[in-house]
Amino acid sequence: MAEILGIGMTHYPPLAGRDENMMGILKGTLRDPAIPAELKDPANWPPRMREEYGTDQGKAAAAEHRRDLLEGLGKVREALDEFSPDFILIWGDDQYENCTEDIIPPFCILAYDNIEAQPWTLKAPGMPGAANVWNEGGDFMLKIQGHREGGKFLASGLITEAFDVCYSYRPLHLQGIGHAFLNSVAYLDYHRKGFNHRLVCFAINCYGRKVIGFRGGAAKFGQTPRPEDLDPPSPSPSRCFDLGAAAARVLKNSPYRVALIASSSWSHAFLHDKAWRLYPDMQSDRAFYAALRSGNYSHWRETPLSAVEDSGQQEMLNWFCLAGAMAELKRKPSWSVFIESYLFNSNKCFAIFPHRGAVRI
Ligand SMILES: [Fe+2]
Repeated sequence: MAEILGIGMTHYPPLAGRDENMMGILKGTLRDPAIPAELKDPANWPPRMREEYGTDQGKAAAAEHRRDLLEGLGKVREALDEFSPDFILIWGDDQYENCTEDIIPPFCILAYDNIEAQPWTLKAPGMPGAANVWNEGGDFMLKIQGHREGGKFLASGLITEAFDVCYSYRPLHLQGIGHAFLNSVAYLDYHRKGFNHRLVCFAINCYGRKVIGFRGGAAKFGQTPRPEDLDPPSPSPSRCFDLGAAAARVLKNSPYRVALIASSSWSHAFLHDKAWRLYPDMQSDRAFYAALRSGNYSHWRETPLSAVEDSGQQEMLNWFCLAGAMAELKRKPSWSVFIESYLFNSNKCFAIFPHRGAVRI
């Protein structure tokens, strides 16, 4: 019988690296000559950012951030194992990894039979390579079982619901899957005890106007593409929300137990021009979190793409899919945590929307 579990998490690349490198994205931004010198001076940072930086240049804060993230990951892994799904579906962004100049689909279901990837040889943005926290070598291979039938079932149902999604049975430009999916699995198995859940990846074009111009990563202020060089936009927040709702309707009438996972951090400093790319948009993220906690999904659905882009929340489009699905199922999170950080590029959220004992809106 169909059952759906909802989960929100992060695939934050620096968590795969070591604490001493966790501030790497900010350090890169501080080297940007186009940013005024006084803004780079810690004395002029917001008080909470100065606190995180402390007297050890963020070392203690990095360890604390890792602890908080691992606690959230432990919670969601426990919920996942207890639920024991037929497959997990992860909504994640493709940051110029599997899809590049030859095709950028707005939505693509990766209905693979099996996935084999070498995370430390892939050149995904922000990934630590040999300096990974597990000391795994370049030949380390992550093997994950896919669920082609489940992916096909969802693609068929969405197309019938007038969501003309793309699907694929094998990777295009990437041996394996992108960092959003790979990191999610790596973090859900942070303690390397094994991961036996089957996986369907659902790629969202979160980076939209910057997907090719920015190559899915950070850029210096001086390298910002001219407006005429920007790419066409990503799907809108409301479209992602409605897609999530349609996915929930399709899966509610499926033979499967499915865990729906949104994987991404929230506002990203390196995309947040209002703060000179130094720290995330705290105010906007807090408002989204309050709306999520209270089941006020209209706040989510009514947010325009321009606001999401201005706040550097491009990757939250993954969460808009989950929000739509949970709104369709009339559920609020039974547990959630919002972890703020000025220094470490983004705020992160974990949430569980259980199938049994669901908290209703
Ligand atoms: Fe990402």
